[in-house]
Amino acid sequence: MNNDPLSLRTLFLLDPSVTFLNHGSFGATPIPVFEKYQEWQRMLEKEPVEFLGRKASEYLAEARQAIAPELGCDPDDFTFVINATTGMNVVIHSLPLTAQDEVLTTNHEYGAIDKTWQFYARQKGFTIVRARFSLPVSSPDLWIEELWSQVTPRTRVISISHITSPTALVFPVEKVIERARNAGILTLIDGAHSPGQIPVNLRKLGADFYTGNFHKWVCAPKGAGFLYVRPEYHSLIQPLIVSWGYDNPNSQRSPFLDHTEWWGTRDISAFLTVPEAYQFLRTHHWDKVRERCHQQLKETCNAFRERLGVIPLSADQDTWNAQMISLQIPRLSPRSIPEVSRRLWEDFRIEVPLVEWEDSVLIRISFQGYNTPEDYKKLEHALGEILVAPIT
Ligand SMILES: Cc1ncc(COP(=O)(O)O)c(C=O)c1O
Repeated sequence: MNNDPLSLRTLFLLDPSVTFLNHGSFGATPIPVFEKYQEWQRMLEKEPVEFLGRKASEYLAEARQAIAPELGCDPDDFTFVINATTGMNVVIHSLPLTAQDEVLTTNHEYGAIDKTWQFYARQKGFTIVRARFSLPVSSPDLWIEELWSQVTPRTRVISISHITSPTALVFPVEKVIERARNAGILTLIDGAHSPGQIPVNLRKLGADFYTGNFHKWVCAPKGAGFLYVRPEYHSLIQPLIVSWGYDNPNSQRSPFLDHTEWWGTRDISAFLTVPEAYQFLRTHHWDKVRERCHQQLKETCNAFRERLGVIPLSADQDTWNAQMISLQIPRLSPRSIPEVSRRLWEDFRIEVPLVEWEDSVLIRISFQGYNTPEDYKKLEHALGEILVAPIT
């Protein structure tokens, strides 16, 4: 099976006139996976009562069974959620935090998750502490010490990303989880970008709570994510939407699945398509594809640094990056983001996000199987053109 970029590109529905360097935001789905998704949708519409009323739970259990080996966990220890935002909300909503408690997070987290924490901190009165790190990040041990310097006797939860959104860094979460467990601190990991991009073995990782997306790097249809909860915390999970699974004394399952599976009528086809998405990755030797993308990332980082003067946030891309990198553009101020974004899109038809982070401007570049070296040359050329003139 061919897995070179041009062959893979023909398998995606992406607009060929766009240089698409933003797989990270919402992913993209290959045609065979999308067709399977539509097949599930057709099946649902053919007999909605049979599908949703009688079969849904069985179909979902079969899908969890097929996906569990990919996540390295038992099928009953994770549930489908439509996205990582929902997974994080379910856990944050369920945690019994009080005004005496602190939650440790970082200044690299996804904005909507920061807001979720803020919302509950206002309701319950706990304190949010944000760790910061020396940049460029270099030694994982130093990073962990910097995180740990913010732990206090009041720290109840550490909530961090596995791969960060604005800065695209792979955080060394394994060691944090181990240390937190020894200190009696709960860990909540936001793995929105992890499945499909880096290995995720939940049993080995040992996090108490871990949520992730299938619709980004596993290339499943939009609206497919998961929430994993360690068995000892299943009974802690409250429904974010109260429905039939609540207060179900005759149930044979853990309250975790009962509280999260049925949230009223909805289309579960994206969930059921996830096994097909994993199959697509296997068929196309995705380990090799990832390696190639990572190599391209390093080459692009070096070329952009030399020619455009951008600054990587990591000293060593093999340790800190997988298939995304954020580069700081020192010549730009955050005020220029709308204009530079407009020019990249309107003048060059390049889809790539510019992010304001800690008063600086970052460009976050994704490397996916369908991207060619020419895609990055186009971006280099476009940025070169844009940066020659001062932008206010
Ligand atoms: C680290 C992180 N967490 C959470 C999310 C939210 O993902 P979703 O919109 O699929 O819920 C994102 C989105 O990019 C993310 O980067």
